[in-house]
Amino acid sequence: MSTGYHRFDGAGPDQLDAMRQLSGRLWSWSSRWHPGELAWFWCEHGGPDPAWRLAHWRHGERVVAWAWARGGRLDLQLDPAHLALTAQIAAWFGGRAVTVLDAETGLIGELARHGYERQEDGRFFAHLRRPLGADLPAPAPPPDGYTLRPVGGPEDAAARAAVHAAAFSVPMDDAAYRGVMRAPSYRPELDWLVVAPDGTPAASALAWVEGEIAVLEPVGTDPRHRRRGLAAAASLAALRVARDLGARQARVCARGDDGYPAARAAYEAIGFRAYARNVRLVRR
Ligand SMILES: CC(C)(COP(=O)(O)OP(=O)(O)OC[C@H]1O[C@@H](n2cnc3c(N)ncnc32)[C@H](O)[C@@H]1OP(=O)(O)O)[C@@H](O)C(=O)NCCC(=O)NCCS
Repeated sequence: MSTGYHRFDGAGPDQLDAMRQLSGRLWSWSSRWHPGELAWFWCEHGGPDPAWRLAHWRHGERVVAWAWARGGRLDLQLDPAHLALTAQIAAWFGGRAVTVLDAETGLIGELARHGYERQEDGRFFAHLRRPLGADLPAPAPPPDGYTLRPVGGPEDAAARAAVHAAAFSVPMDDAAYRGVMRAPSYRPELDWLVVAPDGTPAASALAWVEGEIAVLEPVGTDPRHRRRGLAAAASLAALRVARDLGARQARVCARGDDGYPAARAAYEAIGFRAYARNVRLVRR
């Protein structure tokens, strides 16, 4: 029996385009995904990993769902008008763990019918927001000798990669960051860098603007330079440019549990407040 849905597999640029289309069309505060962060997650490791499984579904021409399976768990987005597609997505995935936003109640109900139940393991990501109105503070001047500035272009890729690698203890090189810079909707004026007195990169914050919403992803400070206001300054600088580009609200994700409070505290210190959280569903 034809259901009118067509699935498209693969990890080419068309897949990212389809995912971004859907996340842009469905954006609301009840939606887990923003197109900007999808571009970041796609590019942060230097491009698609051969171990990823990806698909999107169309109904006619319209993208109505996508699914991204990595490391045995699934991230997905499904148009609430097409919840019937859940069965096909669950069958395509076939795995155990799915992450959703707590506000995606229709999807959570459908996944429950396919055996996926909420399971807490103590860790979760919170979604935080703040308005980008006239009260958005200007960044405080960085401590003596530090410089706050936007990224210039590919010539800054090595410094951006280095500070990201140091902040998150992950590998990232110049070539991978050049990939980020080629991502759809990347703009160097939204990518801010703090340089230490010795010329090495100390902190950074990257914002992505689509329509009236900006997301910060990622923000990081090299452990040798923490608690000097650098993440706050870089984030506020990026958010002020986002506001100039038309963004009216900003959203960010951070660990919401007490196992890693630093990031949430840093965002709360510049006015973000939690409004939703991710939940983990596991198949019985
Ligand atoms: C989270 C992180 C970016 C903060 O960077 P930072 O430059 O040290 O932050 P700031 O100095 O700008 O902090 C501003 C305020 O945030 C809060 N804050 C920051 N780190 C904190 C911590 N470890 N514990 C409690 N509050 C903290 C404080 O209110 C701080 O002001 P104060 O120092 O005057 O008390 C940094 O710890 C980091 O890179 N962590 C790893 C990467 C990460 O988790 N990034 C965020 C998720 S994308």
